[in-house]
Amino acid sequence: MSQLYKITFLPRGQVCEGKPGDTLLDVAHRNGIEIDHACGGVCACSTCHVIVKKGFNQLDEASEEEEDMLDLAPMLSTTSRLACQIELNGDLDVEIPAHNRNLVKEAEH
Ligand code: FES
Repeated sequence: MSQLYKITFLPRGQVCEGKPGDTLLDVAHRNGIEIDHACGGVCACSTCHVIVKKGFNQLDEASEEEEDMLDLAPMLSTTSRLACQIELNGDLDVEIPAHNRNLVKEAEH
């Protein structure tokens, strides 16, 4: 039986489903939610930065590579993570930071 997790993308409050082992970036893309991902999801940029609002403590710890990349992200918070490096293991609420949302807005035109 495959389990599904509930992923809420803020600030819009879009609710999506994710499977164990999906990355957060996978779920966003499957559901048409644009999160910038300049390096293609290999932990070599910081453009997929998100802020975890609920469920942060249950996530696997960030690798050193991820921490290094996060240091470069604007609007860093204590619960910041890279969307391509989050492997789902439970329900999550994540906020897409404003600098990333601005890109989305431009893309919609
Ligand atoms: S897409 Fe580059 S680090 Fe996540």
